[in-house]
Amino acid sequence: MNEAKLQEFMGKLVGDMGGAAIMANVILGDELGLYRAMADGQPVTPEALAARSGCHARLVREWLSAQAASGYVEHADGAFRLPEEQALALAVEDSPVYVAGGASVLCSMFLDKDKLVAAMRGNGALSWADHHPCLFSGTERFFRPGYKAHLVSSWLPALDGVVPRLEAGAKVADVGCGHGASTIVMAQAYPKSRFHGFDFHAASIEQAQRRADAAGVGGRVDFGCATASGFPGSDYDLVCFFDCLHDMGDPVGAARRAHQALKPGGTVLLVEPFANDALEQNLNPVGRLFYAASTCICTPNSLSQEVGLGLGAQAGERRLRQVFAEAGFSSFRRATETPFNLVLEARK
Ligand SMILES: C[S@@+](CC[C@H](N)C(=O)[O-])C[C@H]1O[C@@H](n2cnc3c(N)ncnc32)[C@H](O)[C@@H]1O
Repeated sequence: MNEAKLQEFMGKLVGDMGGAAIMANVILGDELGLYRAMADGQPVTPEALAARSGCHARLVREWLSAQAASGYVEHADGAFRLPEEQALALAVEDSPVYVAGGASVLCSMFLDKDKLVAAMRGNGALSWADHHPCLFSGTERFFRPGYKAHLVSSWLPALDGVVPRLEAGAKVADVGCGHGASTIVMAQAYPKSRFHGFDFHAASIEQAQRRADAAGVGGRVDFGCATASGFPGSDYDLVCFFDCLHDMGDPVGAARRAHQALKPGGTVLLVEPFANDALEQNLNPVGRLFYAASTCICTPNSLSQEVGLGLGAQAGERRLRQVFAEAGFSSFRRATETPFNLVLEARK
């Protein structure tokens, strides 16, 4: 036993436990509006922040102290300040780096612990719908900033010939659309096109329609409850899968259905969590986050469905290419990427 290595590992574990504990505090700060109440960047006392947010002053002091110990806020002379950079990540919902909303995904991983223990001791299955509901809104808030930042400005333009079709008026399916964050971003950008969102989770579909109506695009977007391997319609110009193909039990069946539903010359846009092909290449902070979420959310959902392929959230381009080849697609390429996303194009 190497004492120095043990001490080093204990230091890492203390950091990780602090990270998990502070995420519970981030979720509180987001829900209670504490970060938003500090978004002006001015120093504030715990008492003033408590009055501003309608929270208990003693607990707000403790919360602020935890935030300061994490480097999320600054502390001087009894007052606390949220710097502009931290505010972008924690308070400004429209910012491309906003992460506080998505932290609710982590909340579901703890709340669903008993179900996950049963899945791991049993057949591995835990369906999307059987998670705590904070997963559904957390997923929407986790992914929406990335879609708003990249989808129209760089992902769609990276596809061969798709933007002119969308501008002229295209028919688009967004499969596994959840609360419709990606569908709505596209509908806002391309008013001549029609968008059809599908998801097998009925409660998500209802929420997606409410979101589209609130965003003023309800007339050009409709949502339906359907599985990825049986979604309705034909002659689509574009079929999209945003961060959902690996969650499905039968990704080959889903890709095959997309192949049938596309027009000749149509395109699939496949957005998946960033991953390299080999496990060793994914042993980094992004891979850690996605493998952990995949253990608790993505893979158990896949195992709960027919076929139960269990691709996992770190499948990587090579494995995804096999899925699309098996489904009959003749071309498959990486159109672009971000540190968190693989953006892939499959053509008929
Ligand atoms: C990680 S969420 C992504 C949701 C959405 N695309 C987004 O980016 O916010 C995965 C979604 O896939 C849906 N899903 C999983 N298996 C499905 C299937 N077989 N058919 C249709 N939807 C499915 C889930 O209900 C969930 O909404």
